[in-house]
Amino acid sequence: MEELKNREITISDIAREAGVSKSTVSRVISNPSLVKKSTHEKILALIKRSGYIPNNLAQSLAGSSTKTIGVIIDELSNFFFIEMAEGIDSVISDAGYSMLLCSSRWIAEREESLVRSMISNRVSGVLLAPVSEKSKSISLLEKRGIPFVLMDCIPKSRKISCVAVDNYKGGQIAGKFINECHKQQLIVITGYDHQTITNRIAGLKDTLNPSIKMKHYSGIKTQNEGYNFVPILLVKEQIDHIPTMLFVTNDNVAIGIINRLIEQKVPVPGRLSVLGYDNIKPAAICRSPLTTIHQPIFDMGKIAAAELLEKIADPHRPPCHRILEPSLVRRESA
Ligand code: RIB
Repeated sequence: MEELKNREITISDIAREAGVSKSTVSRVISNPSLVKKSTHEKILALIKRSGYIPNNLAQSLAGSSTKTIGVIIDELSNFFFIEMAEGIDSVISDAGYSMLLCSSRWIAEREESLVRSMISNRVSGVLLAPVSEKSKSISLLEKRGIPFVLMDCIPKSRKISCVAVDNYKGGQIAGKFINECHKQQLIVITGYDHQTITNRIAGLKDTLNPSIKMKHYSGIKTQNEGYNFVPILLVKEQIDHIPTMLFVTNDNVAIGIINRLIEQKVPVPGRLSVLGYDNIKPAAICRSPLTTIHQPIFDMGKIAAAELLEKIADPHRPPCHRILEPSLVRRESA
């Protein structure tokens, strides 16, 4: 290839040098299975030698995909969603896709606008952990025929693919464990209202011994809010005196609560025990390693990503409904 000084190498330069059309070069980039092996190898060698960088936007305007997966989760500051994204990346990067990761911040309107932006950016498909199973963004994706898989949510429609955990069973596991701890009071702390939380509380209530009275505080959404909620619990519920189980349905919040309890010299475990939910990586190394209900978070992302790539390759693929199993992980906090 003649020396192309002071200008970016284009798809036309590659096509001319290889003696093929620009659409053949484009197919090598976005759909190599459609190109003869010898042509594919020749063009890849030219791209590598010349330093050509494909223009994704031009690719998408030419009708092929941008080989980008849109991922919308609820909260970037929560390890739960970071571990989910790690599972997704472990699949899509090997398949030559990049990830466009965004957070809805648990706001349905923001989630919908992110989906619109991803559609206009011609992503190849979307992985969505929706704010609600009734999110308008789900019907938007369906109407536009964009390949997508839901994560951490079980939609009513069986036509929609999803990968989630059996949170009702997770609540039952928590209830069985709490029954065995024989505390005088149970205080349940939840964050955002979400299908997963509703199912956990339903499983818990159906399993608890009738003698155990449960108090429920909701809307404690972040690690900082958990940290700041402890003085209220100490005054209102005397959790440093009455033998208490705190069941926090989100490890991120539970870690904030444990940090404040230990700062205020309230021993954990002791009269007070703390049970979490998720089993995010920091749960094992927090100031009182957290006993928690394990969600296979990485696998949820990995399985959802693999399913989406299959749907992109075969739009007529039947929908999948993978429901993964939770389990109890015993550590020090309870
Ligand atoms: O930590 C985030 C929580 O929100 C997880 O438990 C997930 O299942 C959702 O409920």
